[in-house]
Parts: sequence; structure tokens; C-alpha cells
Amino acid sequence: MRLDKYISNASDYSRSQVKRLIKKAIVEVDGDIITNPATTIATTSKVYLDGIPIAMPGPRYFMLNKPTNVVSATKDSEHPTAIDLIDEPRTEQLQIAGRLDIDATGLLLITDDGQWNHNITSPHSDCKKTYQVMVAEPLCTTLIQKFQEGIWLEGEKRRCLAADLNIVDHHHALLTISEGKYHQIKRMFAALNNHVTTLHRIQIGNILLDENLEPGLYRPFTQQEMIQQQKTQPKVVHPKIVQENIGVTQQGA
Ligand code: URA
Repeated sequence: MRLDKYISNASDYSRSQVKRLIKKAIVEVDGDIITNPATTIATTSKVYLDGIPIAMPGPRYFMLNKPTNVVSATKDSEHPTAIDLIDEPRTEQLQIAGRLDIDATGLLLITDDGQWNHNITSPHSDCKKTYQVMVAEPLCTTLIQKFQEGIWLEGEKRRCLAADLNIVDHHHALLTISEGKYHQIKRMFAALNNHVTTLHRIQIGNILLDENLEPGLYRPFTQQEMIQQQKTQPKVVHPKIVQENIGVTQQGA
């Protein structure tokens, strides 16, 4: 990585401020004074700024209780974004791991760990997400089987993967899905001639929404959640690789 990028990522200095500091010959890398901001350094390099060690911060993980009318995006011209609610340095490096519709609420994971984000959100990750769902029409137990068999969404070529429906009462259920298709839960219930009136996410992989987190508030992961998030690293299995491994060709599949 470039030296100026490393220092600006590891500190609150902007890239142009860092360039000026480097040119003042006060940056030492592995024992040498470096004055060229474009110098490439190793991730293991020991970097000192005016004698003070500068270390790259580790990846950051936050949970946000998303309220309605906030978009799961980093930028939006019309609505406040989830990132607008995060009061941290270097928010431009943060990404949202698994979006929620503007009218949906609940657990949103925010990180600057791109690989972790990919592992959670990849269509092949099999990462389970649980939602509290309220619907307009009464629920009946025959739906449990239908969700298990896979709901066929309008406009899709295949059924959804099996989903677990737990009926709480006539209009409330917990639904666990392992994909993340566009408006998936609303479309699943629409395919069953029902209508989702509220949708609230309470779990992604091993990470549970903190019940004490008011809508609009966020917090970093606890130590325990940091350990859990290691386990929320479902192996991303690409169908092509599986097919190659079991010797099935695209045509024969
Ligand atoms: N399914 C939906 O329909 N909306 C969401 O926000 C998440 C899942």
C-alpha cells in the first residue's frame, strides 16, 4: 500500500495533509526516513510519524437498529442513509452488509471488512437471516410446508431455498431465509396472496439485534460478538465449483 494512504487510513489526517507531513521528513518506515508519499510499504512495516508509531486500525464491525425512512445505502439524495447515523471517523470506508428496504427496520450490519461483507451477502453464502413479519391476511399452518418446499417468486426461474416459518399468531410470524433476493420476504408473501405490513430483522448468522438498541442507534460489536462474527463466515460455495467437483456439466445440471 502507498505510504500516504496507509497513514491517512491509520489516522485522522487527510491524504493531502499526510503528503505535506511526509515531505517534512518526519515519517520513518522500518528505520528509514521516507519523503516520497507514493512509496509502497508492506502491511508489516513499522511506521512512525514524528516518533509516534502509526498502526493500521483493525476492521470495524457495528450493528445498527435501522428505523423506517432510512435507506440502506452509503449515499442518497432524498433520504438519510444508514451511514449518516454512524458517528465515527472514516465513514467513507464503511459498507452495509445486507440491505433492508426503506420501510423495513432492525438489524443492519456495517463494516469496513469487505471480505466479511462478501461472505455474509454473497448469494452462495447460505447465511441465515431472521425477520419478525406482520401480515395483512391471517396465517395458517399449511404455509409452513409451503415455505419449506420453496416459494416460487414472480419473475424468477427457480423456487426460493427452503425457509423456516414460525407462526406466532394470526398476523405475526418469524421467518428465517438464507438468500437475499430483492424484496424477498414481501414477494414471498405476495406469492401466497398475502401482504407484509411490517418487517423487522432480528438476526443475521450468529449476530442478534441488541434489544436495548433504540431505533436509529448503533454500537460496535462486543468481544463476544467479535468471536461470533468469526463464526458468521459461512463458506461461500460457488455452484460452478460444486458442479466441477461432482463432475456435472452446466448442460447436464
Ligand atoms: N425482504 C424484504 O422484502 N425486504 C427486506 O428489507 C428484507 C427482506
